[in-house]
Amino acid sequence: MNEARKHSHLAVGLAMALTLGLVAIEAQAHGDVTPHPIDTSSLPAVGKEWVEANPYRGNEKAVKVGAEGYLHNCAGCHGLNANSGGVAPDLLLLTKDCLDMTGKDQQAACLKDSDAYFKEITLNGKKNGDGRYVMPAYGGVFTQEAVWAVKAYTDARTVEENKKAK
Ligand code: HEC
Repeated sequence: MNEARKHSHLAVGLAMALTLGLVAIEAQAHGDVTPHPIDTSSLPAVGKEWVEANPYRGNEKAVKVGAEGYLHNCAGCHGLNANSGGVAPDLLLLTKDCLDMTGKDQQAACLKDSDAYFKEITLNGKKNGDGRYVMPAYGGVFTQEAVWAVKAYTDARTVEENKKAK
């Protein structure tokens, strides 16, 4: 084999290895939906008894912890930075209208409803008609603190997007 051919074989081999590597990364990004626990040790404990409204609303540390937890658990389907790519519902729509409300009590009630809904789906997931999970259940892995931290993050993202839209 002459030098030139050797090199072109090398180039083809390299290109293939790169492509396979990229395919593997792609598969991982969408395929790994195993729930990962979230380390909430830096946040005030909420306890075993579930509270009805997110105790971390507006807590910046919780937003950071939640962002990390979101990235590892939810982004694959609900989109990076909670910008839905259309695979799964847009989580920013959950509180979009609440956050625009001017009445304080009305807004608090609206957010509380969204908390309950978010918690319900996150803990239990959702199954489609033939019983397969389309949205995984995180109940076995997430603590109450983990659920509220992720919700604090998606709410904070919603506030950001609402501001941008004005
Ligand atoms: C494997 C993909 C997948 C992952 C991972 C995933 N979801 Fe979902 N999620 C879905 C799908 C699909 C639906 C819509 C289910 C339906 O209504 O049939 C959904 C629905 C929801 C809903 C209801 C939204 C609405 O508008 O009704 C919430 C809340 C939610 N997911 C939160 C989360 C959170 C929080 C995480 C991470 C902890 C997460 N999801 C991870 C696929 C996923």
